[in-house]
Amino acid sequence: MAHSAGTLHPEGRIWGLSRQQLTTEQYLDILEKEVRTHAKVADASQEVWQSFCQRIHYQKVDVTELNDFHTLKTTLDSLDHFDNKQDVIAYLAITPKLFEVTCKNLVDAKLDDGNMRVVLEKPMGTDLASSNAINDAVAQYFDEQQLYRIDHYLGKESVQNLLMLRFSNILFEPLWKNEWIDNVQITIAEDLGVEGRGGFYDGIGALRDMMQNHLLQLVCMVAMEPPASMDADSIRSEKLKVLKSLRPMTAIEDINRNSVRGQYTKGIISRIDGDNIVNDSVVPAYRDEPNVNPNSQTETFVAIKAHIDNWRWAGVPFYLRTGKRMQEKFAEIVITFKDVPHKLFSGTPQNMQPNRMVIRLQPDESIRLYVKSKKLGNSMEVQRTFLNLNFHEILQGRRTSAYERLLQDVIESRLPLFVHRDEQAAAWQWVEPIMEAWAKDEVPLYKYSAGSYGPVQSYELIAKDGRTWKEDVLM
Ligand code: BG6
Repeated sequence: MAHSAGTLHPEGRIWGLSRQQLTTEQYLDILEKEVRTHAKVADASQEVWQSFCQRIHYQKVDVTELNDFHTLKTTLDSLDHFDNKQDVIAYLAITPKLFEVTCKNLVDAKLDDGNMRVVLEKPMGTDLASSNAINDAVAQYFDEQQLYRIDHYLGKESVQNLLMLRFSNILFEPLWKNEWIDNVQITIAEDLGVEGRGGFYDGIGALRDMMQNHLLQLVCMVAMEPPASMDADSIRSEKLKVLKSLRPMTAIEDINRNSVRGQYTKGIISRIDGDNIVNDSVVPAYRDEPNVNPNSQTETFVAIKAHIDNWRWAGVPFYLRTGKRMQEKFAEIVITFKDVPHKLFSGTPQNMQPNRMVIRLQPDESIRLYVKSKKLGNSMEVQRTFLNLNFHEILQGRRTSAYERLLQDVIESRLPLFVHRDEQAAAWQWVEPIMEAWAKDEVPLYKYSAGSYGPVQSYELIAKDGRTWKEDVLM
């Protein structure tokens, strides 16, 4: 928590704003319950919590009411430390329908001194047109430089480490291309279902909720060219080039061949602790979740084979998948290199994979480089082993969560880890034909049992290329 770690400015203040008429004390009660349930600081001492509370205020603001913003401005101006040169950050965790009026009122009430930062949370639209409309509306009031579109996957430690690894070591970059890489797999698997968000999720689905943003951002991080510098413009323009190089899938045969959509049925979720299964629970089918249409056609799983049509990546498939109620929660990027051109060591098992780099984003952040080495003994028998960059073991010190990292970046006006509107548009452009084909039911919706790794068709998607998902093979 940034407060107890001392990374927040001592005069920094946080205003909770909503339509509800609450006192700051009532707001703090709600906040404490939420923080202690969901945040990593659940066991923060009362002393720490009380000192954090000194920063917090609550004010009723209906974002459609300009007067409420004037009152807020008056309150801020009346603070001793607030001399109008302090930066104000507005975090819009509200429905995008209210972004425009909120931005207008922030500006009309003169809360923006030209330096205000506005944090925008997803969902930023449900297709290209609605995303453009939101971005156009907001752009009437704020420059692109003031807008911080959050994709929390970019705040994850391993994702930033991937950039560091690629661009500050000479070892990997020469191999980072189609000549040496056979394929890339990116998986974001969740064991949870829709967890009370059925009303929101139904009709949105995994393609919009995860693929259009998080998965494609990870693709950018793997595939981008070295930027000229680490500034926001350089990084974001390299990412944009990747998104624009994604091979469009427009023909229905293409979409059918290269994508799989799935929905979970009733199944069993097991929690594994070390080598033991500690808890088996039967969980309902997606269609039986609260607030979900019993005939819903919404996908909770998606797998796509994508291609990036540029010199570096021509011919290298990117297999992307994400799903809810899968066997375990994990997110990882697997780079599989090509095999050696001539095998000298007989007896190497057929299914032993070539070199692989596995970048684990969660739950345990690490980067493993799988290599072949000799087994102990007199014969030249090969075995798989890995070089392990386990961040938990190697890097001691306080770890920040993705959101904490990103919010600190907003406070310090660092834009590189936020998404430019052009990236958003390019991502929507690529997923839109798939969304449309699915909406017309031109692609089957396959079922998978909760607690599995997704529909069997997602295995076929990769098997027809003679490859397998990482969990299926002897590493
Ligand atoms: C959010 C999605 O953006 O990411 C959720 O809306 C999803 O549906 C979540 O559960 C996953 O994030 P993480 O960091 O837990 O993998």
